[in-house]
Amino acid sequence: MESGNRKEPSGIGIKGIGAYVPEATLTNSDLEQMVDTSDQWITERTGIKKRHRASPDQATSDLAREAALRALDDANLRPSDLDVIIVGTATPDMFFPSTGCLVQRAIGATKAAAFDISAACSGFLYGLSIAEDFIKTGKYENILVIGAETLTRILDWTDRATCVLFGDGAGAAVVGRVGDGRGIISTFMASDGSMGDLLKLPAGGSRMPASEATIRNRLHYVKMEGNKLFKAAVKAMANAATRVLEDSGYTGEDLDLLVTHQANLRIIDATAKRIDIPDEKVYTNVHEYGNTSAASIPIALAEAKRKGVLKHDMLVELVAFGGGLTWASVLMVW
Ligand code: ACO
Repeated sequence: MESGNRKEPSGIGIKGIGAYVPEATLTNSDLEQMVDTSDQWITERTGIKKRHRASPDQATSDLAREAALRALDDANLRPSDLDVIIVGTATPDMFFPSTGCLVQRAIGATKAAAFDISAACSGFLYGLSIAEDFIKTGKYENILVIGAETLTRILDWTDRATCVLFGDGAGAAVVGRVGDGRGIISTFMASDGSMGDLLKLPAGGSRMPASEATIRNRLHYVKMEGNKLFKAAVKAMANAATRVLEDSGYTGEDLDLLVTHQANLRIIDATAKRIDIPDEKVYTNVHEYGNTSAASIPIALAEAKRKGVLKHDMLVELVAFGGGLTWASVLMVW
């Protein structure tokens, strides 16, 4: 369906949104006590001031469960109304069962099929895109898409280049039919495996099973080439941001709100500049949560809605980038 040269929304969108972050926080000054860093360095390079950290008894599915229940409440639906649960995570509770299945059990979503997708920080937008296409087939009505992470569990707390960047949290969205004139207009997903080594967790999988040597060599922690990743992120986010706008006949000036993956303020600013969207239309909360990977966009959406920044009928663009490498974007009328 087209009006002029602009694509119309599909009528499939987010019916309810919810987020949960653990109570405990780690501030930049806390980190100054742990590694050779400073509040000034972290703030200038990333914009991050603090991050939340799961308690020892909380795993990813526990955070996901809370976010899921809040999203269902927001959508005025019950767990038994769900047809599918999709969890984007790089920090599942375990290899299997999937975190999706653990959430399904925890919330009692008895009729839902559940699975995880591995697209790192792009996981939530990959899930949103999959959910829209699933619903378009007519086979499913309500799909819960979750981004949930406990990244603090896979950080090397002796590596100042990575441990200051990430935090824990979860966000969830119930995707379903929202009526004519609203919902998703366009989605885009991309990846480039040739640059996968820039961000990885080397050991613990079939390539390098856990052993005394992998533990001794600290191979169960995030390894990152920050500088190269920064450049790739700016390029890919700008590409993704432009892609769905062009595909739909819109420009950055038409947007009411841009919500990107919250990795780093400088990456967000560069993306916003590329599509000519003014600062006041760019939602950021990276200072409060750090980089929560797949959880960052739904946490930001839930917060923006709660604060009255995100309102019905707004034209909203979501943009993500992450390990893999992966990147994605979604344009929608909220
Ligand atoms: N505190 C103080 N100094 C530090 C710290 C720290 N926490 N970390 C690194 N440094 C030092 C380095 O050792 C280096 O010192 P040297 O010059 O004496 O060797 C210096 O700071 C500069 O290091 P760079 O890595 O070149 O710093 P850069 O300006 O690239 O900033 C950063 C590093 C913030 C990680 C940046 O590269 C970045 O944001 N990259 C993207 C990373 C990212 O967001 N990853 C998340 C996953 S992908 C995604 O979600 C988008």
